[in-house]
Amino acid sequence: MAKIGVIGTGYVGLVSAVGMAHLGHEVVGMDKDEEKIAKLKRGIPPFYEEGLEEYLKRGIESGKLRFTTDTAEAVAGTRYIFLSVNTPMDADGSADLSQLLEASRSIGRALTDFSILIVRSTAPVGSLDAMVEVLAQEGKIRGRDYELAYNPEFLREGTGIYDFLNPSRVVVGADDPTIAKEVIDLYEGIDAPKLTTGIKEAQLIKYASNAFLAMRVSFINEIAAVCESLGANVWEVAEGVGLDPRIGRQYLRPGPGYGGPCLPKDLMALIRMAEERGYFPNFLEAIHLRNESQKRRIIWKLKEALGGILTGKSIGVLGLTFKPNTDDVRNSVSIPLLYRLKKQGAEVSAYDPMGRESAKRIFQDAIRIEDDPYTALRGVDAVLILTAWKEFAQLDWERIRREVKSPILIDSVGIFKEGLPKGWKGWIVGVGR
Ligand SMILES: NC(=O)c1ccc[n+]([C@@H]2O[C@H](COP(=O)([O-])OP(=O)(O)OC[C@H]3O[C@@H](n4cnc5c(N)ncnc54)[C@H](O)[C@@H]3O)[C@@H](O)[C@H]2O)c1
Repeated sequence: MAKIGVIGTGYVGLVSAVGMAHLGHEVVGMDKDEEKIAKLKRGIPPFYEEGLEEYLKRGIESGKLRFTTDTAEAVAGTRYIFLSVNTPMDADGSADLSQLLEASRSIGRALTDFSILIVRSTAPVGSLDAMVEVLAQEGKIRGRDYELAYNPEFLREGTGIYDFLNPSRVVVGADDPTIAKEVIDLYEGIDAPKLTTGIKEAQLIKYASNAFLAMRVSFINEIAAVCESLGANVWEVAEGVGLDPRIGRQYLRPGPGYGGPCLPKDLMALIRMAEERGYFPNFLEAIHLRNESQKRRIIWKLKEALGGILTGKSIGVLGLTFKPNTDDVRNSVSIPLLYRLKKQGAEVSAYDPMGRESAKRIFQDAIRIEDDPYTALRGVDAVLILTAWKEFAQLDWERIRREVKSPILIDSVGIFKEGLPKGWKGWIVGVGR
């Protein structure tokens, strides 16, 4: 069994750390966030993931998993070093590499023996060359002191642990096939197709996969709007289309558009990567533009239902996270959408089952976030559903109808695709009125 250091214990890093400890490796998770590490040392997950607490406690109790804020403790004498820091979107849409380069610098300072630096962050083509430069500034030479590999993560937030242990595939890119094989072998015990490629190819497998998922979301939202204009129900159309094995059913669900920490930034980074090399990817651009217009479409439907006026109206919102079963609000569609409602003069009160605390950090006091859905919706002019949490369908809609000013319901996720609750009028995505 191997010794692994994991730099950055966010969603990907922490799941990788507990997953690798579960496979029997000896893992040290390192993060510069002291609060996060203090929690992890006590076995407390810093965010919600199904099963994470149990796996974390098991890893710590077995002695296979430790946490630290000290890079040297995770790096010195460790052959395998995972880098799972974030690569957020920069102002121009490209990937911001500052965390990756800062982490590379501290690894460069702490390296003692030959190590394989395994990048798990979604990192554009060219980023590993930038790492080589930073490491050289710290006196560490590729091939002599370390080698590089790229090992993309395909987990879905919410089911991250399950996805790590049951992945659709494990991909490792390296220039040297023996290095790729060594990294693949860390996943022994995982039953999945295992693919070794070049570094660029592995990076582009990750970007192309996310662009494809984004494309499916934009595609079905486009078909949904066409269906609505023709008086057809897209949910039935999507089911019939998805049954074709060449197409499949995943990501064919109309909604407010894709958001979250990955798809928007990864699609934009792919566009920028191509543009910087002189190719202008109109098709990828169209996926993004269609996603943006879905937000405008929802606001338009809401405004239309309110008689063309948003100024002075109060909107009760259900759902702030970028998808159900996570507490992650990063880059959620709710953020630009609710700020636009505010800008047009509406007041917003909102409820989310798990994302209230993260949403409060993002929205500050721009919107009112309540701990109870009935309080958030009391007295509003219209209700807007933005995340497909199943429990929203179970609310007492008869009670809510009695407590709102007008029973207008805009269902942008289709939890009421069979029809709005009795006494409500409004809009259902892909169905229309
Ligand atoms: N979240 C997902 O669902 C997902 C899925 C697949 C791939 N990815 C990719 O994985 C990467 C990480 O995403 P995430 O969601 O886990 O991010 P995150 O923000 O949750 O985690 C990043 C962690 O790195 C830490 N960090 C930053 N700089 C550091 C440094 N110099 N030294 C030590 N720690 C440092 C931060 O404190 C944070 O805890 C991104 O590139 C993302 O695109 C994410």
